[in-house]
Amino acid sequence: MNQDQKKQQVAEAALAYVKDDTIVGVGTGSTVNYFIDALASKKDRIVGAVSSSEASTLRLKQHGIEVFELNSVDQLDVYIDGADEITEHMHMIKGGGAALTREKIVAAVAKSFVCIVDDSKLVPVLGHFPLPVEVIPMARSYVARELAKLGGDPVYRQGVVTDNGNVILDVHNLHILEPMALEAKINAIVGVVTNGLFAQRGADVALIATDNGVITKQ
Ligand code: 5RP
Repeated sequence: MNQDQKKQQVAEAALAYVKDDTIVGVGTGSTVNYFIDALASKKDRIVGAVSSSEASTLRLKQHGIEVFELNSVDQLDVYIDGADEITEHMHMIKGGGAALTREKIVAAVAKSFVCIVDDSKLVPVLGHFPLPVEVIPMARSYVARELAKLGGDPVYRQGVVTDNGNVILDVHNLHILEPMALEAKINAIVGVVTNGLFAQRGADVALIATDNGVITKQ
């Protein structure tokens, strides 16, 4: 089974976590795109969705799924999203698609975070995938210097502006043994909006597509 087939398989498995008559939190990325396509099959049984990016909003609307502003919703039952890396402790790196800040916000409002990945994303230690950090544009060079002090090699993601009008620094060569502490430390740098470590609020359920089917971890 190739990676795309695994993404589709795990996206379809996530439908089991979507309850009737609820508003679903929807992430961003190629795996989530498969999820949105699958969600369309039960669009008449849900109230709608809250989206974590303009790209997901567009895809949801193209399927005729109503998209609500997060500010009009008190709580979400479930948030479904992919990841760039995930550990057995359910800590993740996210933000490969530059949507990390809205993803973190929508995840915070959800009772349960269901992470959908193929098995290439499961790692023993986070950091092989460069850690995305969303930064206020005028703070880019300052934040890059501060990130270098933490031992990483920040690289400006050229040509990318986030949905919030900010820029992304991808921090290479990190070996993240204490993800919760590093998440807090990076977020404390002035000019950082947020970083792509999802450790303080990790996944509650991980659905992992393998050649032998979807494994569930919780
Ligand atoms: C976007 C994300 C995605 O969840 C992450 O990049 C995984 O994407 P894909 O499903 O395309 O591999 O965090 O900001």
